[in-house]
Amino acid sequence: MKGGAQSMQSMDFADARGAGQLVFNPSLVEHPKPEWFDPASWGEAIKPVANGGRGAAWFVNGPFGSAVLRHYLRGGQMARFSRDAFVWSGRQNVRSHNELELLALMRELKLPVPEPIASIHWRTGLRYRAAILVGTIPNTRTFASMLEDSMHDERLWRRIGIMIARFHQARILHADLNAHNVLVDTQGFGHLIDFDKSERRLKGDHDWQQDNLARFERSVHKVCNGNAALASAVIMAVTSAYRESMR
Ligand SMILES: Nc1ncnc2c1ncn2[C@@H]1O[C@H](COP(=O)(O)OP(=O)(O)O)[C@@H](O)[C@H]1O
Ligand SMILES: [Mg+2]
Repeated sequence: MKGGAQSMQSMDFADARGAGQLVFNPSLVEHPKPEWFDPASWGEAIKPVANGGRGAAWFVNGPFGSAVLRHYLRGGQMARFSRDAFVWSGRQNVRSHNELELLALMRELKLPVPEPIASIHWRTGLRYRAAILVGTIPNTRTFASMLEDSMHDERLWRRIGIMIARFHQARILHADLNAHNVLVDTQGFGHLIDFDKSERRLKGDHDWQQDNLARFERSVHKVCNGNAALASAVIMAVTSAYRESMR
């Protein structure tokens, strides 16, 4: 198979944070630099993303264009132990590189996702830290923020159902499919972001699809915050368009 993960290049390095690897998209990056992943190195050319995030995502403008830099953070109980260090379990399990490679594959499949720019990990003994740079999708807002404003747009809701079906037909399981991770552009088309821990499933396995859609429905309920009529209208439109597309 041409492209996908194979189209990325990599470079080993060592700096003050540890020894590691930088994986990059050679069509966007000529001379990759580990400093790119350090928010402090950008000076005025960086700003935190306004919404949705957990405080570890920034918009940056670099030689690769307009991008989003995201550091991987732990959630839940483990966050008390260490906010950003993960247990090393081999190069093949590094979250940032896996997300970059999945983005490259999805772009080849013409799915609406950000462009992969570069990913990094720094290893220190039994732990590692990681970050990723992806292309900005310009002029978008999150689907969640549209629902929070009670925007009524049935055609958009149906397009989102069709979009989710396209990912499922391509066997992509988004590990955190929710309304905050759907960005809507000015033409009213949805894009998916935030593919940490996501994966391409094996052919013939469909068991995960209903759970994944149900996760999205729960998120719609949550962001509609008590407006049950809006939530059911959205879910009705999303699921019926989804089912028609999956047939
Ligand atoms: N490629 C992108 N283009 C435009 N905005 C983005 C992009 N990626 C992330 N964002 C913005 O940053 C926010 C947080 O990004 P996300 O990748 O979901 O990280 P997390 O949820 O882990 O904080 C999103 O809700 C969105 O507002
Ligand atoms: Mg997110």
